[in-house]
Parts: sequence; C-alpha cells; structure tokens
Amino acid sequence: MQFDVFTLLPEVFPAYLESSILQRARQSGLINVRLHNIRDWASDKHHTTDDTPFGGGGGMVMKPEPIFAAVESVLGPARDGLPIIMLTPQGRVFTQTVARELSAHEHIALICGRYEGFDERIRTNLVTDEISIGDYVLTGGELPALILIDALTRLLPGALGDPTGAEDDSHASGLLEYPHYTRPPEFRGQSVPEILLSGDHAKINQWRREQSLLRTLQRRPDLLNKAELSDKDRKFIETLTRNS
Ligand code: ADE
Repeated sequence: MQFDVFTLLPEVFPAYLESSILQRARQSGLINVRLHNIRDWASDKHHTTDDTPFGGGGGMVMKPEPIFAAVESVLGPARDGLPIIMLTPQGRVFTQTVARELSAHEHIALICGRYEGFDERIRTNLVTDEISIGDYVLTGGELPALILIDALTRLLPGALGDPTGAEDDSHASGLLEYPHYTRPPEFRGQSVPEILLSGDHAKINQWRREQSLLRTLQRRPDLLNKAELSDKDRKFIETLTRNS
C-alpha cells in the first residue's frame, strides 16, 4: 500500500515510521510512505504557504496554490478513485470500520494542515475525504496521519507477526477485547483466572467472549448497539444487566 503524505513538517515522521511494525512493513514492501514538503511547491521568494483570512479574524489559513501544485505534481492527473484525505477535526471520525474501509485501497494521499485551517477551495476542489481522529484539536494533521498509517498498516495481511493478525483486536468485532494474562501465574497476590490454565480451548473461548461482552457493557455500552451479537451473546448480556 502506498501512502503519499503532504505536510509542512516531514521531519516529524521518520522516528515513528522507522520503528517496530511500520519499519518491518516498509522493509518488506508491504507499505511505502512518501513524504512531500508542501513548502517545496510554494512559488514565491519566501515560500509562503499560509496567509491571513479574508474578512479578518485571527490565525492564518493554508493557501490553496502550494497544496494543489504539490498534489497535482506528485499524483498526476489520473487520480480516479484515489482517496485524497484531509486530516481535520471537521472530518468524519476515524474508527476501526473506517480503517478497514480505507485499507482496501492500494494508494492513499494524506494532507496535513497547520495553522488555523485550510482555504475552503482545497476542501471543495481537491480532497475526496476528510477525517478527524477525535473531537479535540491538535496543532496539525501530522499525528492524525501517522495514526491512520499505523491503523491501516496493521490490517494488511502479513503486517503483524501473529498469523491471526488483527482479528481479536478491540473493535475488530465491534467489542472491546477480553483481558490478557501472561507469566507469572500469581503476581502480588493476584492469580490468573483458573480457566486460562485449564487447556480447555472451548471453555477459554467462551470465557473470553463473555469477558469481552462484560468489558464493553461496563466501559463502552454505546458499542453494543452496533456490534455483531449472537443469541447466546444477547442472553449473556441479559443476565449481566438483570444482576446489576
Ligand atoms: N488536525 C487538528 N486536529 C485534528 C484532529 N482531531 N483530527 C484530524 N486532524 C486534525
């Protein structure tokens, strides 16, 4: 999968892209991340990429010309179906479902803003999608772009060491993940649940499913409305809500 990132701060990306799973994914050719400095396409002597807003008010606005020039020269005219995604708190909220949807693309472009915002014509005439990583405001779109690259990469077959990959993740089935334990079996007076040491995989799977449902009910009950639930799951939730 190819990512083309347009940013005024390309230097903030390498530390993360050159670590752990993303590094491995890049080395094995699973992903390729190209960083483009928008400033390189600013044509005036000072390489200006922002300007004051028409109508007055505080803050600076990202100018359209350098961003259009950067995207058009890197991606060329044949961009049919290629998502050009602006990272902005005004976008649709990034979830695991959106990550899965976007991971089906071979090639994605990401535009990171700085300053107060983008000239509206970038929104209306260049980008195809706008994504927010949550209802809070950051100083720029670079962290959101890295978050998106990270979440999409780990969904690609072969990206994770574990062959079951991202199947059991929190949010993969719309539920939070069950609790995990490793050695030692007892730590500071707290034991690992007996069932996990039993070797009975059917029972372990059932316990994990129930823990997953319990956790989701306790922490994120809003998720239960959209999760894929079996009749057995629903019955279990009923017993939980009846007993509480
Ligand atoms: N840029 C600034 N804040 C952001 C957010 N929450 N999501 C995406 N891009 C942003």
